[in-house]
Amino acid sequence: AKILVLHGPNLNLLGVREPDIYGHETLTDINQRLAERAQAAGHELAWCQSNAEHELIGRIHQGRDDRTAMILINAGAFTHTSIALRDALASVAIPFIEVHLSNVFAREAFRHHSYLSDIAVGVICGFGGDSYRLALDAAIQRLQAPAP
Ligand code: DQA
Repeated sequence: AKILVLHGPNLNLLGVREPDIYGHETLTDINQRLAERAQAAGHELAWCQSNAEHELIGRIHQGRDDRTAMILINAGAFTHTSIALRDALASVAIPFIEVHLSNVFAREAFRHHSYLSDIAVGVICGFGGDSYRLALDAAIQRLQAPAP
């Protein structure tokens, strides 16, 4: 099945950006590892990073046309601000997992609220680059045996 990984604003700077919080791995490293793991499980992984809300929304809409089965999304700061991203995810009705590198609940209060969590399949945060791997494993498991 098709799995789409969406990375929001500033995640292009991964590895350079606040490494104490976000680690030294780059986005390319992460995407490559995810693609290999998805392929080993018989799935096809696509990814997209954008700093622009409308591009992320466009890619979500495209997921409906290309029959994306599952989305992993780290919406970055849009997590805490974007009703439009929430609406886009709800509109296409593609199940998604919310991902964060950092433990947002151990950080500033404005990061504690997410516009996505209550409509997500689940949320994984706090494991650095490994958050994506954990989310992918959960996605693969769910695609093999959909929850009731
Ligand atoms: C983040 C957490 C967000 O609060 C922040 O704005 C980000 C990254 C994370 O992966 O930990 O850009 O989504």
